[in-house]
Amino acid sequence: MKRLVVVVLAATALLSPTFAEGDPSRGRREFRACAPCHSLQPDRNMTGPSLAGVWGRKAGSLPSFERYSDALKSSGIIWDDRSLDGWLTDPHAMVPGNDMPFEGIKDSHARADLLAFLREATKPGAQQTAQQGGMKGMGDGGMMGGMMGGGHDPSLKGLEPAKQVKAITYCHDTYRVTTADGKTRAFWERNLRLKTDSGEDGPQSSAPALVPAGMMGDRADVIFAAPEEISKTIERRC
Ligand code: HEC
Repeated sequence: MKRLVVVVLAATALLSPTFAEGDPSRGRREFRACAPCHSLQPDRNMTGPSLAGVWGRKAGSLPSFERYSDALKSSGIIWDDRSLDGWLTDPHAMVPGNDMPFEGIKDSHARADLLAFLREATKPGAQQTAQQGGMKGMGDGGMMGGMMGGGHDPSLKGLEPAKQVKAITYCHDTYRVTTADGKTRAFWERNLRLKTDSGEDGPQSSAPALVPAGMMGDRADVIFAAPEEISKTIERRC
């Protein structure tokens, strides 16, 4: 038994300690810092590209992600344990001029944990079993998992009536948004943001969604299925 322990220790010592010691379950918690911008499902892109299959990928090369910076695309990096550790330490030192709004993780143990989690969770097929703690594929535990892991934005299809926009009027500096539950709420024009989501989690066409933004309750987003719907929906009337 003792000899086995020695062999195992010797084997781990051969690997670089930073990469060998990561704890994936602590790493899952670290991933909360990434989840608002990165999904682990293939081609589900948000602010940042999907991280599914990132090991071995050339930086800035996921075809379905349209917003890479030139800096990242021309960096010549191939993502592996070492380059990802460097990127997560200080993305802006590693690739000056890249567009990832993230300052980096200075604690090497936290990075090792995160990489241990990501190495498994980004493997092909991994998202079906142990998704990012996301909503889909986790059955009823999804809600909890989604909150823990950050998850992706919830689907805007089949919303409760209080979030289904029926009409919007615009008068002076005020939008009035009427929802399917019959309520009308007024917003100062700079507190209502008009957005689109044409993706699979976006609203049905002609059924924009009202989503509260922030804690104050005075700000909200209306999310449309397509840009053409915005002016069609909003009626200038006092
Ligand atoms: C606020 C949003 C945001 C956060 C938070 C964030 N990222 Fe990013 N990430 C981006 C964007 C945007 C890019 C693309 C940058 C570019 O093109 O210059 C990116 C790029 C990347 C890439 C390169 C992917 C590729 O296809 O080349 C990796 C890897 C990555 N991020 C990992 C992470 C990890 C891990 C975390 C958490 C520790 C994280 N990011 C946090 C937005 C974010």
